[in-house]
Amino acid sequence: MTDDELDQVDQNRRHFLSIATGVTGAVGVGFVAWPFLSSLKPSARAQALGAPVEVAVGAMQPGEMVRVIWRGKVVYVLKRSEEMLASLEQNLGSLRDPDSEVAEQQPDYAVNATRSLKPEFLVVEGICTHLGCAPLEDFEVRPAEEWNGGFFCPCHGSKFDLAGRVWQGVPAPTNLVVPPHRFVRDDLILIGQDTGAA
Ligand code: FES
Repeated sequence: MTDDELDQVDQNRRHFLSIATGVTGAVGVGFVAWPFLSSLKPSARAQALGAPVEVAVGAMQPGEMVRVIWRGKVVYVLKRSEEMLASLEQNLGSLRDPDSEVAEQQPDYAVNATRSLKPEFLVVEGICTHLGCAPLEDFEVRPAEEWNGGFFCPCHGSKFDLAGRVWQGVPAPTNLVVPPHRFVRDDLILIGQDTGAA
């Protein structure tokens, strides 16, 4: 074989190796991603992809709250009691935005006295509107503190009432966010979608 022929063989070999490495790399990514998704249960897989999340509320008792994850965010679903609902009328003067006038904080259908589709069910993101901590539920009524129950953020002391409305004089600037949601049935809420097919 001449020197020119040897050079050509060398170049062909290098070209083959670079293609083979690229193919291995692409297959490798597929093998990493697929086991991750396929190892999740269907509901977890849907959550990872940001799909709407169903919440069965038929067995919930008044005063009970559940947490679900939607798009990586915690969402609180609280079934409010008659007393809790009655308390929403009180202390309106202590709230920064009692009428939900900051439009980005809720869909239009939650601009009402209870910030909800059905008065008894509150659906809000469990993310403080100051710097994103998780507010804690505190449903104990303490008249001496003018506290009718609500959510307290331990990071810097922000307070929200039982409709997720922020108190005046705290670091959080706005009410808790009401995510898009709808009732599929009386006992089933779909979070992440308000109209269209389930
Ligand atoms: S993050 Fe909630 S008060 Fe600062």
